[in-house]
Amino acid sequence: MDVEPATAMMALRAHERGGPERLVYEEAPRPIPGPDEVCVAVRAAAITFAELTWPETWESAGIDRTPVIPSHEFAGVVAEVGPDVIDLTVGDSVFGLVPFDRDGAAAEFVVVPSACVARKEATVSDVDAAAAVLPALTAWEALRDQTHLVAGQRLLIRGGTGAVGAFLTQFGHQIGAEVTVTVTSALAEARARKLGADHVVVSTPHPEARDLQAFDVAIDAVGDEVPEWMYAAVRPGGQLIVLQEPPSQELADKYGVSAAFFVVHARRERLDELAALIAAGHVEVAIAQTFPLSAGKAAYESGSRPKPGPGKTVILVP
Ligand SMILES: NC(=O)c1ccc[n+]([C@@H]2O[C@H](COP(=O)([O-])OP(=O)(O)OC[C@H]3O[C@@H](n4cnc5c(N)ncnc54)[C@H](OP(=O)(O)O)[C@@H]3O)[C@@H](O)[C@H]2O)c1
Repeated sequence: MDVEPATAMMALRAHERGGPERLVYEEAPRPIPGPDEVCVAVRAAAITFAELTWPETWESAGIDRTPVIPSHEFAGVVAEVGPDVIDLTVGDSVFGLVPFDRDGAAAEFVVVPSACVARKEATVSDVDAAAAVLPALTAWEALRDQTHLVAGQRLLIRGGTGAVGAFLTQFGHQIGAEVTVTVTSALAEARARKLGADHVVVSTPHPEARDLQAFDVAIDAVGDEVPEWMYAAVRPGGQLIVLQEPPSQELADKYGVSAAFFVVHARRERLDELAALIAAGHVEVAIAQTFPLSAGKAAYESGSRPKPGPGKTVILVP
């Protein structure tokens, strides 16, 4: 007798816009892959706490998407493939990034375009792969596509040990730039040096401005409003990259710098490159804490408290 495939799954969902208080762990329809999509049985889903504030989380092309499933950074096993997918098969261990205006991976299954998924080496844990994918791709896009950073240039990173900041620091060092980072504690200072920072400024929000001048490239990886001193820290003609929102054109003009914002995209070749880099141990991936999917709401709520250590918060799906 044929067994009907399951049509339901457990997921973390929000039925209304808001913060972690909106999240509920409940039954939801199991997604079905389209022609060039894969359905992945999720094993680990990482959190970027700011995602609940992103417009794409709640709407697509101006249309309300609720109920939504959060968490776009995942690793798992391919459970089903669409008819046009030729390079992935059921049972492959994979990781990837779900486009931000689609349902995420805080669920037993997620459907994602096949181009946003890559095979994961067996030696790399699901947790590490899920934790690395968004921050590493964002840092690469900032340094390789947006600024074209080269060896010898002076790079400033505000928030050099955050999830994205830690990859910016590591990649900036690997490119051969002179890397200066700001952090908020002595503990973070030690970590920044381990990640490859040449200079570390332990800062309260404002006094850094006096010392930080003439950078070729500056990247704000904190997530709050970008302070004016970040614009002033870039040399005339240099570049400021802002990750959280479009920068102030007025301040960019005032200091004669080019300032830009971008939203990261997953690409198969970058995912393959990242998979090899993590497997070779060439980047450090830090995990602060893990929660089971059933406690996903608590995982998101933990974003408003100090974390037990550096790195990502990851949801584990049994
Ligand atoms: N555009 C894109 O495609 C994209 C992609 C990914 C992320 N993002 C955005 O990037 C931002 C960072 O994300 P994330 O996941 O990396 O966040 P995160 O892990 O929370 O990192 C933020 C870091 O900033 C540090 N920080 C806070 N205040 C600071 C200050 N005054 N000076 C120096 N450092 C300070 C924090 O240190 P403490 O923990 O010590 O406070 C933390 O290490 C968010 O706005 C997110 O939305 C954008």
